[in-house]
Amino acid sequence: MARRPRKESAGTAASRASRSSKAPGADAGCTVTVCRGCCCGTTARHPEVDHGAQLVRLREGIGDAGRVRAVPCLDACDHSNVVVVSPSPAGRLAGGRPVWLGWVLADDMLDEITDWVRAGGPGIAEPPGTLDLQEFTVSRRVREGLPG
Ligand code: FES
Repeated sequence: MARRPRKESAGTAASRASRSSKAPGADAGCTVTVCRGCCCGTTARHPEVDHGAQLVRLREGIGDAGRVRAVPCLDACDHSNVVVVSPSPAGRLAGGRPVWLGWVLADDMLDEITDWVRAGGPGIAEPPGTLDLQEFTVSRRVREGLPG
């Protein structure tokens, strides 16, 4: 007796349709978290920086290679402006972990972050230029406060 193919439930079909409607690579890239709290992203602390233009530059540079999000204070204000580059799923599998970068103020720093994300980011590619000099470590409490 031949087996009849199993009927697909509506939930399964819906979830497949939902997955396939996402932009290609939307789930595959790095996440760049840009602090825009009390110290980062304010002209009071960094009057020479156009913080809005920073976000635009990162978003345009990274494009569909990852996602860029702005978040409130990450509790590392001494290092403002703070940007965290979190690995892609592939980068995490390869051992990459979120990299905390401080003093991200100049356009060339933003471009190095963009280049790194487009090259694969933590776990996949080495940070370009002098980006590694801006890396700093945070306590577990602060690290665990990074939005997921
Ligand atoms: S405002 Fe960015 S770490 Fe506090």
